[in-house]
Amino acid sequence: MHNITLIPGDGIGPEVAAAMKRVVDSTGVQIQWEVVEAGEALIEKYGTPLPEYVLDSIKKNKIAIKGPITTPVGKGFKSVNVTLRQTLDLYVNLRPVKSFKGIPSRYENIDLVIVRENTEDLYAGIEHKIGDYGAESIKLITRPACERIVDFAFDYSVKNDRKLVTTVHKANIMKLTDGLFLQVSKEIAEKYSSIDFSDLIVDACCMNLVMTPEKYDVMVMPNLYGDIVSDLCSGFVGGLGMIPGANIGKEYAVFEAVHGSAPQIAGKNIANPTAIIQSAVMMLRHIGEYECAEKIEKSLAKVFEEGKVLTVDLGGTATTEEFADEIIKNL
Ligand code: NAI
Repeated sequence: MHNITLIPGDGIGPEVAAAMKRVVDSTGVQIQWEVVEAGEALIEKYGTPLPEYVLDSIKKNKIAIKGPITTPVGKGFKSVNVTLRQTLDLYVNLRPVKSFKGIPSRYENIDLVIVRENTEDLYAGIEHKIGDYGAESIKLITRPACERIVDFAFDYSVKNDRKLVTTVHKANIMKLTDGLFLQVSKEIAEKYSSIDFSDLIVDACCMNLVMTPEKYDVMVMPNLYGDIVSDLCSGFVGGLGMIPGANIGKEYAVFEAVHGSAPQIAGKNIANPTAIIQSAVMMLRHIGEYECAEKIEKSLAKVFEEGKVLTVDLGGTATTEEFADEIIKNL
């Protein structure tokens, strides 16, 4: 029996999380879910969107899966997601981007992996006002954080039969911060003779990805670029409803979709649960439940290839629940 923390989140979170849970449970895997709430709704009662019991639950179970959580723009509390990543030192944000046959897209056979540094860069949250004149944000890049994330990217490549690691940066302008990320990448690359290494400036990276995504394999980058490039890459494979993610540290792992809480479509039972279902597939592999992970992956592939039951974002008419039912039917 695996004990796993489940944070449904808000917006479309509870809907897609419920679909994911039904699919995972239908594989027969033995999971005891510990459901804990986080997000804005808890502020009134606990004075924080991330009450201590959420962290306690993850620390106890070591593994969590979460739905998205809304963060106010330009004001209000600090992102729960960023706080979780920093507090639990989940330094890797691993985001595989892979095409399914049958998904409407201008691109085919996409198979990229984004490795995003998850604890520092402009997301360190070191920001202050300069009176009424302006505001300043510090871009923090440290050698230990660069070393562990780049090393993860190479190690992942070796273990997953990948051929090329590309470091994405803007070291021509930010010579010290991104310069350090690039320098460490070059040093680590020396240790992995079986994996090719290249580097790319982030603006050129966006253009090259749109023109020739097949040239890239595993891409490692600081936090902010990782956030942006992940959303860009989701567009290759059907959009944000599709791509999964894992926040991984030495002690804990929290699995979550790349997308946010999509408030415009929340509560309508139309969100695509694929991204969190694929996050659950990553989680099942992480805990050694390879057969159950494969079952879900095969079922997803079948549903997409048949193309009869698709959610609205993919041009279909199925509800979140109907889509989950179809996956379960094919398991
Ligand atoms: P978003 O990812 O929620 O939505 C962007 C677009 O993608 C919208 O058109 C939305 O309808 C669509 N979309 C996203 N997920 C979908 C799904 N599963 N099925 C169908 N369509 C989907 O990004 P946005 O609007 O920038 O952020 C909304 C809120 O989510 C913000 O408060 C943001 O801070 C938060 N957020 C939370 C994240 C997390 O909890 N990990 C990650 C990203 C954003």
